[in-house]
Amino acid sequence: MSEFLTLAALGAEEEICTRCPLYRNATQAVPGEGPRGARVMLVGEQPGDAEDLSGRPFVGPAGRLLDKALARVGLPREECFVTNAVKHFKFEPRGKRRLHRKPDAGEIDACRWWLDHERMLVRPGLIVALGASAIRGVLGRSGAVARLRGKLVDLDAQTTFLATIHPSFLLRLTEEADKREQWARFIGDLGIAAEWARAGDIVHAEADHLALRGAGGLGPGLG
Ligand code: URA
Repeated sequence: MSEFLTLAALGAEEEICTRCPLYRNATQAVPGEGPRGARVMLVGEQPGDAEDLSGRPFVGPAGRLLDKALARVGLPREECFVTNAVKHFKFEPRGKRRLHRKPDAGEIDACRWWLDHERMLVRPGLIVALGASAIRGVLGRSGAVARLRGKLVDLDAQTTFLATIHPSFLLRLTEEADKREQWARFIGDLGIAAEWARAGDIVHAEADHLALRGAGGLGPGLG
């Protein structure tokens, strides 16, 4: 059980985190966002420039691509809890620009404490890791995206895990054919998450229906 009562309380504590040096140069911590009871949690790597400035996850170019993919598979972003393995932006200043730098294993592991609390509060049934940093953040050890992607794996009795690529991988591709192929694979992976969520909706609806019947809540001839 989390020592935090609400996601807001957790977010306030993340804001004063000094567990690794990344807080020193970032504008602010970027906590996860979404409903507390979300059944699907999407985990990215770390905030980028736009997220660091706005304080919200996945609102920049990679986020727009993620939104498009989620809309395509019919998994509404508003129903998911969207977060990152690392809560502060890691970058290298280059003139007026801030160039993204990958978080290292130590930074991901230090930040796992926050991700674990988000998991305890949200209690998602499915966690989707977007890319290698997210895989490490969720599993606590490194795993190859190519080996893990597209397969539902039980983490524990309540939680299923699915890995796929990070959407920024798609933004870096230059060949049209590669872009098309990788987009289709990404949609395929997220489609598995969407199917999982839809199957859960049916199970929940049936459970509610049975509970209502058990409680005599359905009128004669109904159900
Ligand atoms: N990339 C991520 O991994 N997370 C964000 O929030 C934005 C870009």
